[in-house]
Amino acid sequence: MSHVVNFAVSDWAPRLDAETQASIIDALESGDVVFLPQLEFVLEEKERTLFQSALLGRSKNISFLPAKGELKGTDSIGSERHVLQAMMARFARATADLTSHLLGLYAGELKQARTSFRPVEIVGRQTSWRKDDSRLHVDNFPSSPCGTQRILRVFSNVDPGNHPRHWRVGEPFESVARHYLKTLKAPLPGSSRVLQTLGITKTRRSEYDHYMLQLHDRMKADTAYQQRAGYTDVSFPSGSSWMVFTDHVSHAAMAGQFALEQTFMLPVDAMHTPSQAPLRILEGLMQRRLA
Ligand code: SIN
Ligand code: FE
Repeated sequence: MSHVVNFAVSDWAPRLDAETQASIIDALESGDVVFLPQLEFVLEEKERTLFQSALLGRSKNISFLPAKGELKGTDSIGSERHVLQAMMARFARATADLTSHLLGLYAGELKQARTSFRPVEIVGRQTSWRKDDSRLHVDNFPSSPCGTQRILRVFSNVDPGNHPRHWRVGEPFESVARHYLKTLKAPLPGSSRVLQTLGITKTRRSEYDHYMLQLHDRMKADTAYQQRAGYTDVSFPSGSSWMVFTDHVSHAAMAGQFALEQTFMLPVDAMHTPSQAPLRILEGLMQRRLA
């Protein structure tokens, strides 16, 4: 079973000795959730109004691209949009600070990707099985292939109503991969080129991405697996933060409202122990290169 390890960090730019930094990296790479119970993303007074209004467009999250300053997935306009964008930019900066202090040993290899604000209560959320994050799964991106990159995510529970965010953390990646290995289908020849030409993917989908998407779907669609698979219940209180490689750690979000999330990408070869990457684990099981 995956573990949750706590670190006493209460500042977004903490000074930690090299040994603590290395133990955080080891925990993350081996598939633990790094829980920072004292790390609160403190909201500004003007941001509090964002938690009372209907901000969402049709998607389940509002997303922000720090590099471009681009905001998507919201119908909000005017000053409300401005405050929303500024809050997300502030979270992006805070998590960039945090990771440069906590994961400085990755020496500039960690790249900041999308920021998201998740304002919908998970319980009762209407969605398709594929988008239903309350079913155990591992993450991969259908339109932005990972190739040889890992997905690291930083979350903060910012619920002003003080409700915890409840997750289930499932079995280790290798067990998940072994469970589904025999059922995974190879991509159709030429399909990755077609997906890219049609604009369905931004870059060429690697075989690795193809299998990760299948794992994601197989897990979510498999009701028997969802009932039988072992998991640990984890509760992240409002005012806490956590980090996790969500391409490795089987997870499900069961309840809670109002989280901020920042995605980072890390090349597999920049890891301290690349053999722990899902890419390398799948390659080991399939006995060939996949990206
Ligand atoms: C997920 O990545 O599956 C959802 C996590 C969350 O929103 O808490
Ligand atoms: Fe997920």
